Amino acid sequence: MAGTWALLAQHCAPSAEAGRDAVTLAEVRVLRRVKVERRLAVLRRLARCEQAVAAGDAAYTMHRERFPRAPKHDAARAAEQAEQQTAEVLLNESCALYLEQRGFLVFAGVRSAMDGEKLRAEASSARLRPLILDVTDEKSIGAAGASIADTLGGQGLWALVNNAGTCVSAPLECVSPAQLRQQLDTSVIGSLAVTQALLPQLRLRRGRIVNVSSGLGAVALPYLGAYATGQFAKEGMSDSLRRELRPSGVSVSVVRPGAIMTPLWGKVRETGKKALDQAPDDIAGIYRSPFERFVRLNERRAQLSRTRPEDFARQVFRAVTAPRAKSRYYVGTDVRVATVLSRLLPDAALDRCFAAATRPGR
Ligand SMILES: NC(=O)c1ccc[n+]([C@@H]2O[C@H](COP(=O)([O-])OP(=O)(O)OC[C@H]3O[C@@H](n4cnc5c(N)ncnc54)[C@H](OP(=O)(O)O)[C@@H]3O)[C@@H](O)[C@H]2O)c1
Repeated sequence: MAGTWALLAQHCAPSAEAGRDAVTLAEVRVLRRVKVERRLAVLRRLARCEQAVAAGDAAYTMHRERFPRAPKHDAARAAEQAEQQTAEVLLNESCALYLEQRGFLVFAGVRSAMDGEKLRAEASSARLRPLILDVTDEKSIGAAGASIADTLGGQGLWALVNNAGTCVSAPLECVSPAQLRQQLDTSVIGSLAVTQALLPQLRLRRGRIVNVSSGLGAVALPYLGAYATGQFAKEGMSDSLRRELRPSGVSVSVVRPGAIMTPLWGKVRETGKKALDQAPDDIAGIYRSPFERFVRLNERRAQLSRTRPEDFARQVFRAVTAPRAKSRYYVGTDVRVATVLSRLLPDAALDRCFAAATRPGR
């Protein structure tokens, strides 16, 4: 900064060229005004932040919910946003609670009545409504859709969060067709089926769809091929859907989390073991040791990850409340780095990064 001021002072010094001096002084005045305005803007933002921090995060979010920033050119959309406390469908406990605590009416998909009761007990209000939903079962999807439509009574649904997931982790040579089908049924076909069932409700509100993908929707790791297949498909499906639904005003976003320690990681070991046990011994023998090493490393990565379920919930909250939904939201540094590397590095370089993981007998 000192350097800039010094240069300006030199420009202001009297010169033989009177015209040039006048221009320079005008420039200085403009620059000073801009600087003062910028500083004032920064000070105002700091004051707002301090107030928000002093009052606690919840108060800050309440403020944002009560006074949502309106999109610049769409008054109808702004009016809809102002009364956004309507409805939400999602499948993840912490995320459901996070949204319920912030005023959303949440229909939380669960697969058993017991899970529903557990979730209801954790909620702070009756705004959280567990709903039996298996995304691979058409009848269950139909019943859940009808129940939501009934409750909303023609009011329409504001947002759908497709978060149901499973993770088949095994060398692709050992993944059975049934395991691959189960992976794709849950992550891709199930998400689309639920979306199709709820689109008429979403259209009424010009609402939002949030598809939860993964860092593995950008970089396919070895031994997670089945899962990555599902995530790449979900990313592609979301892009097509976003473009198709643009005229109807329904937005589609992807939330892409990195590693977060959740029960998913316990299931990773389980499905891997099952796949290897089912494969012929000579095939399973090729992979057993590097795969075991890979699973250990992956679990450790998740345990060490600083990303928390709340970070994920916060990004979903952003996706459903931002004046203009972005096409992608990232959760965690690892996923941001992976996304950038996948764009910058050639395949050969990425392959070298993963070569150590698949090396046998270490
Ligand atoms: N954890 C991570 O590191 C991570 C990273 C990137 C992306 N993700 C994605 O984030 C999402 C949530 O994962 P999570 O870590 O929270 O795993 P999770 O604890 O295993 O949660 C997955 C949820 O999906 C539900 N589900 C599975 N199959 C279903 C079906 N057929 N119908 C309805 N619900 C079904 C599960 O219900 P049940 O409890 O009844 O099985 C569970 O509630 C997944 O889409 C996952 O791919 C997670």
